Amino acid sequence: QSAEKGGFEHFMIKEIHEQPKAIKDTMTSRIMADCDEIKLDDIKLTSEQLKNIDRIYIVACGTAYHAGMVGKYVIEKLAKIPVEVDIASEFRYRDPIINEKTLMIVVSQSGETADTLAALKQAKSKGARVIAVTNVVGSSVAREADDVLYTWAGPEIAVASTKAYVTQLIAMYIIALYLARLNGNISVEEYRQIRDEMLTLPEKSQEVLDQKEELQKFAASNYMHKDIYYIGRGLDFAVALEGSLKLKEISYIHSDAYAAGELKHGSIALIEKGVPVIALASQSELYDKMVSNIKEIVSRGAKVIGFAFEGNSEIEKTVNQAVYIPKTLDILAPVLLVIPLQLLAYYTAVEKGCDVDKPRNLAKSVTVE
Ligand code: G6P
Repeated sequence: QSAEKGGFEHFMIKEIHEQPKAIKDTMTSRIMADCDEIKLDDIKLTSEQLKNIDRIYIVACGTAYHAGMVGKYVIEKLAKIPVEVDIASEFRYRDPIINEKTLMIVVSQSGETADTLAALKQAKSKGARVIAVTNVVGSSVAREADDVLYTWAGPEIAVASTKAYVTQLIAMYIIALYLARLNGNISVEEYRQIRDEMLTLPEKSQEVLDQKEELQKFAASNYMHKDIYYIGRGLDFAVALEGSLKLKEISYIHSDAYAAGELKHGSIALIEKGVPVIALASQSELYDKMVSNIKEIVSRGAKVIGFAFEGNSEIEKTVNQAVYIPKTLDILAPVLLVIPLQLLAYYTAVEKGCDVDKPRNLAKSVTVE
């Protein structure tokens, strides 16, 4: 098996390193430098059909659900269509409003998750149009959906999802841009700006990987903690949830993610001297607010590792350690920001001697309800 791991100790770390390529492959032939339109042969939705759509549901489980949260932000921002994002096992049992004006996007790495598949079938039976975002060609969700957008992450072996998640993010941007161009909500100039930035993500994600030693050090000095919290606002909150999930899945450390503005309504009570908090501060409109949220927890003793774009170094005055990611557009930040969090979870689990690729009680694909 060590040959399959390409010289890496675990599949998870191998797959983390495959992300620049996975991002590139998922964009290839869809987003092209010299082309002013997204090319999506896999989605047949016409602008006439789109006009009829008044609501989008993004439905998924686990990590794919976190990608869906990012999808909601970007689709609403760019295409200006209301989006609800839901956990498949909740969606199914809450009598959601579904009709021919509904577009459902299901996100599933395996394409076989029972709850996601059941939600898809429910939506279809009520007349919704369904787009599947999946990593497995010919999987059940791919077969059942009207349109399929494949993520080209390649096979993902480690139970904790990494490269599939970043390609799901890319798929969310692709869909958002596609819908926004189709309904005329973004101009060619706006499209070009996002396109050009997206095309730099493979290279920038590689730069993030090159900083792994910093995260390794943080893991080495924090793996023995009982609780580690993640905070962020806006898109950073969605990434915080994913970072926290990665950590608990593979290191078994109790962890939670909070929308930083919500801390004062309850969870700040958990902050005591020495508790590690991962604070994400990539979103420029929320940066100052985030810095003041960090100050509130630092003054209560939290040990904070802060993440921001290169150049936003004021954060250093407040946090114990700062980690920088290459500058990109705020909406694209999740792609770069999640990588150090995956590394942090990975190194923490390794320090603890956990079975990284096959964490206890978890399965790669859950095909029972
Ligand atoms: C399982 C896996 C998770 C995954 C979730 C959804 O719980 O352990 O890593 O996010 O299923 O899987 P899917 O294949 O539908 O994306």
